[in-house]
Amino acid sequence: MNRPDVVDSIAALRARVRDWRRDGLRVAMVPTMGALHDGHLSLIRIAREKAERCVVSIFVNPAQFAPSEDLDKYPRQLARDLDMLAMVKADLAFTPAVDAMYPAGFATRISVGGPSAGLESNFRPTFFEGVATVVAKLFLQATPDYAVFGEKDYQQLCVVRQLCRDLDLPVEIIGAPTIRDTHGLAMSSRNAYLGEDELQIARELNVILRKAAAALATGAGQEDAIAEAIRALIATGFRKVDYVEARESLTLAPWRHDRAGRVLAAAWLGKTRLIDNVAVPAARV
Ligand code: PAJ
Repeated sequence: MNRPDVVDSIAALRARVRDWRRDGLRVAMVPTMGALHDGHLSLIRIAREKAERCVVSIFVNPAQFAPSEDLDKYPRQLARDLDMLAMVKADLAFTPAVDAMYPAGFATRISVGGPSAGLESNFRPTFFEGVATVVAKLFLQATPDYAVFGEKDYQQLCVVRQLCRDLDLPVEIIGAPTIRDTHGLAMSSRNAYLGEDELQIARELNVILRKAAAALATGAGQEDAIAEAIRALIATGFRKVDYVEARESLTLAPWRHDRAGRVLAAAWLGKTRLIDNVAVPAARV
């Protein structure tokens, strides 16, 4: 299988997209930080169904890591990533260097309100500014018709939708379901940090969230269901729970029983922070 072409300059990316457009081809983009797994590949499959050409960016974005976070140890494995992109027939990989994206003197940050409030932002206060800034840059560089983001990072998906709406970016955002292993653990590049014992514990996260969502759907009190989920996470072996919260699916406003919702969580296993979320079906009345 052929690896995709690789470009690392913004000019080369623009030239390639210009050629595609001249030929009347639509373009879908899948932004990633590499260390690709089946979750990423599922997004690329969706992108290829939507558009004739698919560009995948691989860029570990320093702007979304706090100084205390894992920027240096984040897995980087370009050769393997390109082999995986060949499997799903991505057309182009965009792999800019940090100083191409953030040259000396770079001084702009995009701050999205609305769905960025709370949840991740309480623990990673500059995270969504970093994400919104790099995603806006990628969209302006590649000018895709479509971009696919995973529900795995549910709040991020909502923030990107808000960004495009507010800045009139002409990109249709497509949300893609979370890909899980056979135990229901959401695939994540950070799962590579987990030891065997931690992996067993990690696999309980989705089970506990599903239980909470089912309880909420059948009318359990919100405070009780959340407290029970936190208790179960700690009892299972999670070191610390950053949050478990029920929010409205579309706006991420606090959840009410008559609305479709999402239970979102972040918890620590040793030095690894895992996030996940599951749907709460609208309650039967
Ligand atoms: P990264 O963590 O590499 O994820 C890239 C995309 O893959 C995101 O849209 C994410 O939600 C999706 N994804 C990750 N795991 C998934 C899974 N198990 N199932 C389905 N989709 C999954 O998210 C980022 O990178 C960055 O913040 C980025 C948007 C690229 C900006 O730097």
